[in-house]
Amino acid sequence: MKLIIDTDPGIDDAMAISYAAAASEIDLLGLTTVFGNTHVHQSSRNARYLLHRLAVEAPVAEGAPFALGRTDHAPSERVHGPEGFGDLTDIPEVGTNHSLDAAAFLVEMAKAHRGELVVCAVGPLTNIAAAMRLDPEFSRNIKRLVIMGGAVFCPGNITEHAEANIYHDAAAADEVFSSPPDTVLVGLDVTLKTLYETADFEALARRSADIGGFLRDISRFYLNFYKEIGGLEGCGLHDSTAVIACTHDGMFDMVETGVKVTTIGSEIGATRPDPSRPPIRVCRDVDGAGVVQLFTERVASLP
Ligand code: RIB
Ligand code: CA
Repeated sequence: MKLIIDTDPGIDDAMAISYAAAASEIDLLGLTTVFGNTHVHQSSRNARYLLHRLAVEAPVAEGAPFALGRTDHAPSERVHGPEGFGDLTDIPEVGTNHSLDAAAFLVEMAKAHRGELVVCAVGPLTNIAAAMRLDPEFSRNIKRLVIMGGAVFCPGNITEHAEANIYHDAAAADEVFSSPPDTVLVGLDVTLKTLYETADFEALARRSADIGGFLRDISRFYLNFYKEIGGLEGCGLHDSTAVIACTHDGMFDMVETGVKVTTIGSEIGATRPDPSRPPIRVCRDVDGAGVVQLFTERVASLP
């Protein structure tokens, strides 16, 4: 399966990109970066470093620095750390970004691989909205859009109403859901059923010294956040669960419904069923243990 991940790496993003590198059925054609867990230039630097460390030859096309109509962004440093990789800072600058920006890269790759390209968006949906604006055929050219985002039947995480990716650009998300391509929404409804605990990271590091060890090291900061703020003994495999949904949709129970995003007021970023909207597939349940095991077995196979 041909895949592009639109990402704001980010600790769970790093886990998802590592999973994609380890999954033999995935042909990772590139990464597009967006603001979110960190500033977009840092997202790109982290993405290029990750691909280099994973020995994956793929371009990184840099995207939006801010949400639609905004000129600033405050990264989630308390969740992912000052540079998006927990306590790890000042990682080497490896390679350069692709000459196209994220939206143009997505549009060109969708044309080049018409009907075959799956786009997995695991950050704010700003680049996706920009690609849809840039080329009206984009939604028809891609095979599917799989989104890590939303909290349709459960509380949010950045506020009680909203999940972080949607919250960071509610306008872009609502634009995407108003005329969606073939779309699967992988929200907190399922990603909080795929918790990954300290013991899981330690076991992974014993089997994969380099990549597993790196993910264990950068996850400490993230695990502390989940314990201190959420009282959880693990972190959600948010982005990896979305990548797994690209190839293993049988592990998910999905319902078809239109989705509306609240774009103003105290509930901004809320994602609610709306039958007046074109239907997308919303994940309501998941084989959480199966996702955790699949993630572990694949990433453990890395160096
Ligand atoms: O709410 C979880 C999502 O927000 C994940 O994609 C995480 O990386 C952050 O971007
Ligand atoms: Ca992310």
